[in-house]
Amino acid sequence: MDKFVIRGGNPLVGEVSIGGAKNAAVAILPASILAGDTCVIENLPSISDVAASARILSDMGAAVKMLNRSTLEIDTAHLTDTSVSNDMSRQMRASYYFLGALLGRFGKASVAMPGGCDLGPRPIDQHLKAFAAMGAEIDVRSGMIHVAGKLTGAHIFFDTVSVGATINAMLAAVRAEGQTVLENVAKEPHIVDVANFLNTMGADIRGAGTDAIKIRGVKELHGCTYAIIPDQIEAGTYMVGAALTGGNVLIKNVIPKHLEPITAKLERAGAIIEEYDDSMRVYRTGDILPVNIKTMPHPGFPTDMQSLMGVLLSVAKGTSIITEGIWENRFRYVDELRRMGANIQVEGRTAVVEGVPELSAAPVRATDLRAGAAMVMAALYAHGESEIEDIGHIKRGYEDIVQKLRSLNADIRCVHVPETVMREAL
Ligand code: EPU
Repeated sequence: MDKFVIRGGNPLVGEVSIGGAKNAAVAILPASILAGDTCVIENLPSISDVAASARILSDMGAAVKMLNRSTLEIDTAHLTDTSVSNDMSRQMRASYYFLGALLGRFGKASVAMPGGCDLGPRPIDQHLKAFAAMGAEIDVRSGMIHVAGKLTGAHIFFDTVSVGATINAMLAAVRAEGQTVLENVAKEPHIVDVANFLNTMGADIRGAGTDAIKIRGVKELHGCTYAIIPDQIEAGTYMVGAALTGGNVLIKNVIPKHLEPITAKLERAGAIIEEYDDSMRVYRTGDILPVNIKTMPHPGFPTDMQSLMGVLLSVAKGTSIITEGIWENRFRYVDELRRMGANIQVEGRTAVVEGVPELSAAPVRATDLRAGAAMVMAALYAHGESEIEDIGHIKRGYEDIVQKLRSLNADIRCVHVPETVMREAL
């Protein structure tokens, strides 16, 4: 029941270091099951989704040891349980990766329907289609997904570009008999990262990052040490923060190439971005300018940055149009932003954003992970003191956000609201 209290008006100034990519980490942790051996995973972000993945592995019988704050050693040699309960699965969307990993190693898996952010319908038909094409029997009963069968390579053409289905199919295919070809796949940097991790364990995957991925099944994998790539959305969040508040931030531990879709739009919106080998400096001297955005699979503009750009454009000098191309329900932050004075009209998957000269503080909610981060940025810009509730969503994906922002001169604190106070207030 914690909340953030933020007094806006301070430009973000200084340096911030970006953690490991959440959406790679939540796939790589379950993927370690395929090794049946010890893996050391480095550069893990310190977030609740990673903690939940590690807890699931440990509940299933893996020996999980924390070597330091961002490194886990995972030994899955004695892991025997092939099911993930409802309690664990509901904590995060990515629990679906246990299906592909368990199926790939043991030829069976039972995983409760996953939870995660409410972004509208989140089907997993393409994941199941891939498992079925490789020979698995699928049974969905009482909220549980059961998959079982001896897998053989297959040629799979996905009906829609899906990050989760692409990764899950790779996990299932690496130890299948024969060759699997995946077409119309997702190309996000974390797809390549998961493929690199699997290859480091001895898999034979080619083409990750292009439209088609070829996987030659191998009999066994082995343990390895692997460092996860930096989180492009965490980096993008601080880039927006620097541009929005008119600050000047050196964002360290990034891969600038992964950030190109975000950099391109931010520059058009008036940010000045200097790229170095593994860092970038973001600042702004002129006005925030309107730009149109359509979210698309990589290398298009990422949907996970849509709410953050929405906040920036809400104070641009002019009108911007934002079209959400991935999720049906990703404008829920707009109602919250309107409480701060934004002028945004949403019609279906399109938002018309009329820039206003300023935002004013208000009590708002984090309606999902990225919407929550967007509210933090809006509050840093707004005049006065804002309170943000439901921050559990934000902790799922942003490590040390309060400490990182405070080191950039932001006036933000996390306030604990005891449950009794909450009950009395209700
Ligand atoms: N889709 C289907 N059938 C499927 C799978 C997906 O129709 O079987 C549709 C979805 O409904 C959606 C589109 O395909 O319209 C893309 O979904 P995708 O499978 O790519 O999304 P995901 O794997 O469930 C991941 C990230 C999301 C991110 C999306 C898109 C993880 C754990 N989550 O979700 O991240 O928005 O890719 O890039 O990797 C976040 O980090 O805040 C977040 C929501």
